[in-house]
Amino acid sequence: MQLRDQLLSKIENRTACIGVVGLGYVGLPLALEFAKAGFKVIGYDVSERVVKSLMSGKSHIQDVPSEELSKLVKAGKFEATADEKRMQEMDAISIAVPTPLAKTRDPDMGYVIAAAEAIGRNCRPGIVVVLESTTYPGTTREMLQPKLEAAGLTVGEDVFLAFSPERVDPGNPKWNTKNTPKIVGGITPNCTEVATALYATCLETLVPVSSTETAELVKLLENTFRSVNIGLVNEMAIVCDKLGVNIWEVIDAAATKPFGFMKFTPGPGIGGHCIPLDPHYLAWKMRTLNYKTRFIDLASEINSEMPAIVVRKVAQALNEERKAVNGSRVLVLGVAYKKDIDDMRESPALDVIRLLEQQGAEVRYHDPYVAKFREDGHEHASVPLTDDELTKADAVVIVTDHTKIDYQRVVHLAKVVVDSRNATAKLAKGKGRIVSLASAGSYATA
Ligand SMILES: NC(=O)c1ccc[n+]([C@@H]2O[C@H](COP(=O)([O-])OP(=O)(O)OC[C@H]3O[C@@H](n4cnc5c(N)ncnc54)[C@H](O)[C@@H]3O)[C@@H](O)[C@H]2O)c1
Repeated sequence: MQLRDQLLSKIENRTACIGVVGLGYVGLPLALEFAKAGFKVIGYDVSERVVKSLMSGKSHIQDVPSEELSKLVKAGKFEATADEKRMQEMDAISIAVPTPLAKTRDPDMGYVIAAAEAIGRNCRPGIVVVLESTTYPGTTREMLQPKLEAAGLTVGEDVFLAFSPERVDPGNPKWNTKNTPKIVGGITPNCTEVATALYATCLETLVPVSSTETAELVKLLENTFRSVNIGLVNEMAIVCDKLGVNIWEVIDAAATKPFGFMKFTPGPGIGGHCIPLDPHYLAWKMRTLNYKTRFIDLASEINSEMPAIVVRKVAQALNEERKAVNGSRVLVLGVAYKKDIDDMRESPALDVIRLLEQQGAEVRYHDPYVAKFREDGHEHASVPLTDDELTKADAVVIVTDHTKIDYQRVVHLAKVVVDSRNATAKLAKGKGRIVSLASAGSYATA
């Protein structure tokens, strides 16, 4: 109990040294919250490039302003390092490394294992370790606990281990790391208590749960819920298209129900590091227990069909102009996976562009947040959204509805706009046609 109480008092009086392993979208904002709460924070990242840029006060994460980072670096409150030995100074370690999927859609736990091994090599009694990376139920107990025990530590007595999922929603102006309630589940009640006390120093609302497995599953339920509901509404868009009913009107009307309905909107597919990947962590785990998670599989199947549906809409729109996709010039608006952010991971725009190019289209793109990207070995660069660019395109496809883009101007100048996000719904008609993802409504009276 002595070690637990010593650690709790270091946390309470802010003398604990906080470590964050992995300084990306999740780790960097968290590290800065701890620094702002008065702790000395050391961020460890394997990328020398990331470390160097952070130490020069330059943030690579859109939601973290460089001025804020730079102030904390100068004040000696935050320091980034690629030297794993610095872990020996840390009293608390939060791990926020990537958990991608392998090509086979199985979890790629390589980053978590590498982080756990580095901690195992550098840990000591009296510290708390919290895994934040999204993962399948059982990871913290099966993968991290043995690494700490191999270092001769007893979890729950001289070292404390918990899982606490990150729920950050990049680009969300209302909900951020600080005010989004934080789930914490420890290996033992002591672990939960210490990890909860740690996060309570800088986050507004803590939600302790009874085990690491519960905390791991909370995150997967949240993102599976989103994936399934997006899958459902995407299927509704296909249904509406076939029926000639305007999906957006149906959704808006359904959303007037004050209870029992939650609004989701269709689109070109799902992207980002979470929704396309996380449910597969659960599906994989359940396959090992000989259970097939049918909702997850079906939602994934429908959601991954959406880029092809967008491309089919482009082909139909061109066809009506007596043009083929082959040889047409197509301008894609927005390539980030969702609006007003710069993250392209798993973006459906990648599939839309690839499918159009496979059919012979000359594809260009404009995205105010993504200056360039590399895919399949060749580089794409954003073109300026000039009048010339809009008028010369045979079709303009809205894949991501960034707020910064003037859609009225797009509609005014483009020959045909394929709108997969309903960004043009309330605009005055331009010279060209607007093609909706789901029917603009052949049964509509207005
Ligand atoms: N991005 C999101 O919106 C979001 C939201 C909730 C949860 N998550 C989860 O959080 C985790 C991290 O995601 P992210 O988006 O922050 O990833 P990221 O790619 O932005 O950042 C991860 C960082 O970890 C570093 N890294 C890799 N291996 C390392 C190691 N062994 N030791 C130290 N650093 C290492 C990388 O260099 C990188 O800087 C993932 O499990 C993800 O699913 C992400």
